Amino acid sequence: MKAIMLDLIVSHILKEAEDVIRLTLVEQDGGTLPSYKAGAHIELQLPSGLLRQYSLCRLPTTGKEFEVAVLRDPNSRGGSAEIHRLKKGDKLKAKPPENHFPLSNSRLPALLMAAGIGVTPLIPMAQKLSQSGAEFLFHYSAKNAHQAAFYSTLKNASFSDKVEFHFTKKQGERVDIQALLASLPDKRNIYVCGPNDFIHTVLDTARSLGWPEEKLHYEFFKGVTSPEVDIAPRETFQIKVASSGEVFDVEEGLSITQTLEINGIDIPISCEEGWCGTCMTRVVEGIPDHRDTFLSNDERASSDLIMPCCSRSRSDCLVLDI
Ligand code: FES
Repeated sequence: MKAIMLDLIVSHILKEAEDVIRLTLVEQDGGTLPSYKAGAHIELQLPSGLLRQYSLCRLPTTGKEFEVAVLRDPNSRGGSAEIHRLKKGDKLKAKPPENHFPLSNSRLPALLMAAGIGVTPLIPMAQKLSQSGAEFLFHYSAKNAHQAAFYSTLKNASFSDKVEFHFTKKQGERVDIQALLASLPDKRNIYVCGPNDFIHTVLDTARSLGWPEEKLHYEFFKGVTSPEVDIAPRETFQIKVASSGEVFDVEEGLSITQTLEINGIDIPISCEEGWCGTCMTRVVEGIPDHRDTFLSNDERASSDLIMPCCSRSRSDCLVLDI
């Protein structure tokens, strides 16, 4: 069934931090927007047709606004740059909010761990935990205060005493994840969002300290490589089309789907970032270097499936079931 699309308009743009803007989006007819809970995101369809997901960065208030914060990413394939070119009054479509990163219980103790723009889904979580009277800590790592989105929001929040900033450009201010987790009096819910290596470090540290898996909650913004396979990823590799036997070289900087397209073979794509599942393809032979966020850990480990829009190869050749 086709998702109902919301017709939105940019009502306000604010410079949130260096290279980060905060957009307020409202219904074009001024109507009420669907409600959502902490940790939810919306998928925006940009004027160019690109689809991008952004976390909603505060709890609903009037019910008539969505707020997202977007970092201008120099490695972006166009999405963040296009968002940064939007102006007040520009129109765009969005799918209603979805939530893959909810609070498991807003009344239980929690640790929120954010790095960089990964702070966005954790802000409504902190608001909710605070409203519920839960005991929680909020550790936020950023390069410095100018690059820390929501720095003043968090400084002035009613729960500001729970927030600790770690500015990585200042000596001695990096968060000591091992010491922090070891100092907690309980194995509480941990919610973590940020760059992949930050998330992995928090999760690995928690697991090594005996954290139960059900208390670990995380959201990756970009593709994640599989920790189960330790054959080094290839910068260039070959793909073989199982049905025809054709072999193509995948060059550095080109995806598998782009390589196939150049050679006249189209695989359906949508997000091109590995989270929507549209391009999922069966692997007949070879070891994928998974960079998506769609497959489960078990699916990654089996090497039977690949998201060719973003994933690459750990073997010299991948034979694809196309
Ligand atoms: Fe969305 Fe590949 S196009 S996962």
